[in-house]
Amino acid sequence: MKFFIDTANLEQIREAQLLGVLDGVTTNPSLMAKEGITGEKNINKHYVDICNIVDGDVSAEVISVDFDGMIKEGNALAALHPQIVVKIPMIEDGIKALKYFSDKGIKTNCTLVFSSGQALLAAKAGATYVSPFIGRLDDNSTDGLDLIEDIRLVYDNYAFHTEILAASVRHTMHIVNCAKIGADVMTGPLSAIKGLLNHPLTDIGLAKFLSDHKKGN
Ligand code: G3P
Repeated sequence: MKFFIDTANLEQIREAQLLGVLDGVTTNPSLMAKEGITGEKNINKHYVDICNIVDGDVSAEVISVDFDGMIKEGNALAALHPQIVVKIPMIEDGIKALKYFSDKGIKTNCTLVFSSGQALLAAKAGATYVSPFIGRLDDNSTDGLDLIEDIRLVYDNYAFHTEILAASVRHTMHIVNCAKIGADVMTGPLSAIKGLLNHPLTDIGLAKFLSDHKKGN
């Protein structure tokens, strides 16, 4: 299972990279705005900065919602760095754009996916990644993990190559449950990734080992 961090915060990306378990980064326009990164030039520089910190794929989202705009923007984003994955919304022109980039050998991430039908379309169009937003489904009284399970079934039925990237991960149990279901990738905050470390028995056990060692010496 690949671990992506869902942030545009360079400090957090560095911390996750140093942990040694990071496989990539996802960003979106809201996350860029949260870091105060505005204007095309600054945004593009920020993507390159992120690519220079991590080894894996870095999703950069287009803002256009028409085919020509998405193609122009996506080509420009892909040209920034070989690690860039063009993130495209699940809309009609987005499907056409996914097919265009897939035919060109440019990696894509289909975002804002909320149903297995949408995920099927993204796979048919050749998306590298599909991003079902599990936290936002949970926010709407719908179990986001059920969607991951459904997409897993659909993709396995036909051996689609599109990777399921569980997005909008909010906490540690989302990660554990996505791993049980077989999501290929999860993207979440640093807090959820580091939350995997936590167990009181580990802390109690370590404290005991260290105090016993001290007694023995
Ligand atoms: O990157 C898209 C997705 O992960 C957003 O998460 O927490 O804003 O629903 P969230």
